[in-house]
Amino acid sequence: MTTDPPPGESRLRAESVTLAYDRRVVAEKLTVAVPDRSFTVVVGPNACGKSTLLRALARMLRPARGAVLLDGQEISARPARQVARTLGLLPQSATAPDGITVADLVARGRYPHQGLLRQWSREDERVTQEAMAGTGVAELADRYVDELSGGQRQRVWIAMALAQQTPLLLLDEPTTYLDIAHQIEVLDLCARLHEEGRTLVAVLHDLNQAARYATHLVALRDGRLVAQGSPAEVISEELVAEVFGLPCRVIDDPETGTPLVIPAARRRAGSVTGAGRRTR
Ligand SMILES: Nc1ncnc2c1ncn2[C@@H]1O[C@H](COP(=O)(O)OP(=O)(O)OP(=O)(O)O)[C@@H](O)[C@H]1O
Ligand SMILES: [Mg+2]
Repeated sequence: MTTDPPPGESRLRAESVTLAYDRRVVAEKLTVAVPDRSFTVVVGPNACGKSTLLRALARMLRPARGAVLLDGQEISARPARQVARTLGLLPQSATAPDGITVADLVARGRYPHQGLLRQWSREDERVTQEAMAGTGVAELADRYVDELSGGQRQRVWIAMALAQQTPLLLLDEPTTYLDIAHQIEVLDLCARLHEEGRTLVAVLHDLNQAARYATHLVALRDGRLVAQGSPAEVISEELVAEVFGLPCRVIDDPETGTPLVIPAARRRAGSVTGAGRRTR
């Protein structure tokens, strides 16, 4: 297990930050560097501070102490619009304005690129269409966002974040609400964006998906960095026990060779009479 900082450059980093809401301190002296061009995945139990860290990295929450640096400058000192052209955040529970259509919401991703003098362009249209196609929501373009299913809505938000076309993209639980096929689709899309040269930071709860997709894994507990490094370096039975308090086995994923976490069985399968039997 290692907590050494990752080698190489980091455009985005939190340096010894104290993160708090009024008096509730979530993290103290937390240092996290996002390696450039990495697919960084943040894991940790509920309420350990993952979303809080992402908000701080995205300039949505100002650290009480320490600093978040973007390209070596304190992020809170930089204009919001300039930051929004570099870094996009998909929040964990985003709420759409009432009565907005899918196409209009995705188009909002282009706002940081527009100015008083530069109105909607062909380029904006092309990027918006591409973002909707890439997330499979093109056919929903004219629907109202508040009339979509949770999974459809989640993909619309991802499309909006894509339309922002930022080199850095922070995604807080992008696979929540998605069925397993759409989870893999979204993660494959993230992997593609990463291969194209973007730096991604995603919060994921599924450790096995994290192990498959992350190039850099950050494990948090109680606002502290417990381990960081490649999935193979970070994920172990000890780590899962320390971070989640869960006894498990870690084996090789038969598809990818990455660590596969198998929770220990607390009860034998089918121990309740009739449970687990399939009806045909
Ligand atoms: N707006 C807020 N005001 C006050 N406290 C907050 C606020 N948002 C989060 N918290 C608290 O900060 C702590 C960390 O919350 P955070 O949302 O960062 O956790 P998380 O790791 O993202 O959890 P989850 O896996 O459930 O999303 C929690 O104790 C939470 O109750
Ligand atoms: Mg969260």
